[in-house]
Amino acid sequence: MGKVYYVSQNVGLGLLVLAVSALATIIALSIAYDKEKAKNQGKPGDGAADSTSMPTPSTTQFTPKEPWDYYRLPGSLVPVSYDVTLWPRLEPNKDGLYIFTGNSSVVFRCVEETDLIIIHSNKLNLTTFNGHHAKLSGLGEATAPTIKKSWLVVKTEYLVVQLSNRLAVGATYVLHTEFLGELADNLEGFYRSEYVEDGVKKVVATSQMQATYARKTFPCFDEPAMKALFNIIIIHNQGTVALSNETVDSVIEGVPVKVTTFEPTERMSTYLLAFIVSDFIRIWARKKAIDDRQGEYALNVTGPILQFYERYYNAAYPLSKSDQVALPDFNAGAMENWGLVTYRETALLYDPVLSSTGNKERVTSVISHELAHMWFGNLVTLKWWNDLWLNEGFASYVEYLGADYAEPTWNMKDQIVLYDMQKVFAVDALASSHPLSRKEDEVNEPAQISEMFNTISYSKGAVVLRMLSEFITEPVFARGLSAYLNTFAFGNTVYTDLWDHLQQAVENTPEIFIPDSVHNIMNRWTLQMGFPVVTIDTRTGRITQKHFLLDPDSESVLPYPVNTNSLMRVSGDGWVLANTNVSGYFRVNYDPDNWNRLLSLLSTNHQALSVVNRAQIIDDAFNLARAKIINTTLALRTTKYLSKERDYIPWESALRNLDYYILMFDRTEVYGALQAYLKKQIQPLFEHFKTITVSQILDIINAIGIACSMGVKGCRELIKSWYRQWMENPVHNPILANLKSTVYCSAIAFGGVEEWDFAWTMFQNATLASEASRLRSAMACTKVPWLLNRYLEYTLDPTKIRKQDATSTVQYIARNVVGMPLAWNFVRARWSYIFQQYGKGSFSFSNLISGITRRFSTEFELQEKFKEDNVHVGFGSATLALEQSIEKTTANIKWVTENKASVLKWFTEEST
Ligand SMILES: *[C@@H]1O[C@H](CO)[C@@H](O)[C@H](O)[C@H]1NC(C)=O
Ligand SMILES: *[C@@H]1O[C@H](CO)[C@@H](O)[C@H](O)[C@H]1NC(C)=O
Ligand SMILES: *[C@@H]1O[C@H](CO)[C@@H](O)[C@H](O)[C@H]1NC(C)=O
Ligand SMILES: *[C@@H]1O[C@H](CO)[C@@H](O)[C@H](O)[C@H]1NC(C)=O
Ligand SMILES: *[C@@H]1O[C@H](CO)[C@@H](O)[C@H](O)[C@H]1NC(C)=O
Ligand SMILES: *[C@@H]1O[C@H](CO)[C@@H](O)[C@H](O)[C@H]1NC(C)=O
Ligand SMILES: *[C@@H]1O[C@H](CO)[C@@H](O)[C@H](O)[C@H]1NC(C)=O
Ligand SMILES: [Zn+2]
Repeated sequence: MGKVYYVSQNVGLGLLVLAVSALATIIALSIAYDKEKAKNQGKPGDGAADSTSMPTPSTTQFTPKEPWDYYRLPGSLVPVSYDVTLWPRLEPNKDGLYIFTGNSSVVFRCVEETDLIIIHSNKLNLTTFNGHHAKLSGLGEATAPTIKKSWLVVKTEYLVVQLSNRLAVGATYVLHTEFLGELADNLEGFYRSEYVEDGVKKVVATSQMQATYARKTFPCFDEPAMKALFNIIIIHNQGTVALSNETVDSVIEGVPVKVTTFEPTERMSTYLLAFIVSDFIRIWARKKAIDDRQGEYALNVTGPILQFYERYYNAAYPLSKSDQVALPDFNAGAMENWGLVTYRETALLYDPVLSSTGNKERVTSVISHELAHMWFGNLVTLKWWNDLWLNEGFASYVEYLGADYAEPTWNMKDQIVLYDMQKVFAVDALASSHPLSRKEDEVNEPAQISEMFNTISYSKGAVVLRMLSEFITEPVFARGLSAYLNTFAFGNTVYTDLWDHLQQAVENTPEIFIPDSVHNIMNRWTLQMGFPVVTIDTRTGRITQKHFLLDPDSESVLPYPVNTNSLMRVSGDGWVLANTNVSGYFRVNYDPDNWNRLLSLLSTNHQALSVVNRAQIIDDAFNLARAKIINTTLALRTTKYLSKERDYIPWESALRNLDYYILMFDRTEVYGALQAYLKKQIQPLFEHFKTITVSQILDIINAIGIACSMGVKGCRELIKSWYRQWMENPVHNPILANLKSTVYCSAIAFGGVEEWDFAWTMFQNATLASEASRLRSAMACTKVPWLLNRYLEYTLDPTKIRKQDATSTVQYIARNVVGMPLAWNFVRARWSYIFQQYGKGSFSFSNLISGITRRFSTEFELQEKFKEDNVHVGFGSATLALEQSIEKTTANIKWVTENKASVLKWFTEEST
């Protein structure tokens, strides 16, 4: 369980190999991986694709005829085990290409008579034997038919082997292939990551198989239900140091090498495999990062989190070791490879002096998320990608429980309201949203699979599972879960299998009563998109609900009564607050009198309500106003009590909502009045924190950031002087870690080329990834157009901005009012290139579109015909995001037209 760092004595000489066995070090073979969700600044990177072979998106209807025209395997053959040998070359060949070679023998059983072997293979150059791409033999009694013909199908990513006779049902065969592939820098399949240490370029071979990239590494039955055992041998350079006992020296093709054999894996899915060849050290990071003790915090929390899950799931950790690796180039945030989890550096490494509290929280929650998958996802795997929401939603929920156990003082459990609930409310309130659950046959192609890795799957999945857990109570939920994991260990499931086991747990607990079956209750949340707004009329006690849609014109469904409850009828000073602790996935509205009573309660005694409920009142009010269910001025009034608020979550909730006003109005006269109001509200918070010395609290970040951008007296000067001191003495950074993001951004925004170039130098020199990430974000804050344009160009050059960071950098620039039109022009002008590079990736690519179009609010912007102009190029995994952007822009236009005058009036009155 990787509690110890192993430091190689010999790193300078060459490469280390991390091994899968607990003893080993240089090649890490790992077995499990997961795509990580976007959080904070650590947006997942980009799913860069091979520039040569992006599938052209088909605009014409294609009707499959032959078995190999279908994206799903026919199911007539089932893999049992693989023997795979891989030899990555960490130096380019004579053509300047980095490659790997390998061979694989897959043992499979025939379960349905067929004369076809259809197996995934993508971008591998296969060696031919007598003109065929593979060799076939029978195992035991079975005699293999001869191969008649074999060919590759590029569109569906198959190797097809046609036989002269049929395979016999029940018989077992071995298919052998030999192949060569490119060890590209595209963050998919078996790929390479590069970094410079002490002036020397280092190359790491690593892998990312989820969702459909194992087939780029070796021919395999690449579907999650096709579980098998894997016996892996990795061949690596002699210059490398391997601490594995299984490593032997050898000479292959005249090259002296080391051959490391891994223990056979457990029965598992292809997408959870991983291989890494590198000079990493245990807890797996660059040597410099380990020397700086950046891995120590991750090591400290891993043990407690694993212990937490063993208890929570009531199931032992399924493997004999746990390794975690931080990689300089990594597409997602992290990947739950079984026993060898891979991370972006920002998600695993933490420096006690240089990193902020936010960085530390991110490390804890990402580790907690990935380790949750070691059982849920890896031990028991969903049958197909249409149920991805259950895998990711589950991990996104329990990550808060694991993190809370490791860091009990942080109130991590409350944060789900900000980071998942409010985030997904925004997306799921659109008419272009979609249900959590998709039918299996609606998700086939790799791009459709990638599109499943979205906010709905992660965040809505998380909040409806949390709702269910709180509803049936956590102990009952955990008991059902444990039964589910034990029943299906090493197998595959569909989401209803979990409902069955939770139902069983409910039935076994007489004191729990639920009004309908778990299945029927959950269908309401998983089979239909969106969520309700519940309206409580405290004059009558009547409760109604309807589908909440941000654009009131997009659908007109009348509210239907739920019931009348006398407890909800109040008078005098009494108030009603529904959705305590925000455990339900719905918004709440009240009659005007109850709203007024809640607002006066906030202004006199806000602590009577929980922190998350305070945050949610604000968020509900602002969104109800946007949907024209309540007045905009009522929403604005929920912010009046904030001059007394000292907690982070309500402030953050308010600022996010006011951010919409800033986006909509920062090009108009409303902005001045808004600034004056916010300045007035934030002043007490700023003064409060100014008087205390060092605070670990996130509020101070908000206070300083907002105070400065709203022009609070003394703020700019303070920031400028800190940054100036740092410029004068670059080796000594005087800025408090928690304030860095804000100070860097503000100093660059108030400054010019000199401040920007200094940040660029520091960015390039940064040895801590989270520091680099902060600077990268801050450089987008400049108001100087040519600096922004130059920065946009840098995103096309991987030597300046890593591919994993390109799309999020463009988004940072688009967030800036000066940068938005520049970023939009840039993206439109280079759409086909950007699409080729990143179109297949998941999160970041669709975030790119939604990020840039966020502040669109004019007819002119809507009519820019971006969609029509680029139909021929396609939108890949951003298709849905583009639809959502168009819908949001339409809503923004209406909102601005209708609200500008009253908003201006309100801010003007309230700021004096
Ligand atoms: C696979 O490749 C390795 C290295 O080239 C070689 O030693 C081994 O014999 C090959 N295995 C098979 C079954 O051909
Ligand atoms: C695979 O073969 C094709 C065609 O011969 C060649 O162009 C390509 O470079 C090869 N790939 C690698 C990684 O060598
Ligand atoms: C591995 O090698 C070390 C050092 O040579 C030895 O002490 C240890 O017993 C070996 N372990 C195994 C499992 O062979
Ligand atoms: C890790 O734990 C040790 C022992 O409790 C502690 O001394 C050290 O400060 C911790 N490191 C970090 C980075 O939290
Ligand atoms: C709300 O959360 C607090 C703190 O977690 C807990 O003590 C309280 O019982 C919860 N209230 C409800 C109604 O669930
Ligand atoms: C608020 O809404 C009510 C109707 O619900 C309306 O009569 C009133 O004029 C609105 N107030 C403002 C300031 O728009
Ligand atoms: C760059 O980083 C190195 C190593 O951390 C440090 O010694 C050097 O002073 C830095 N240079 C500047 C200009 O900060
Ligand atoms: Zn995950």
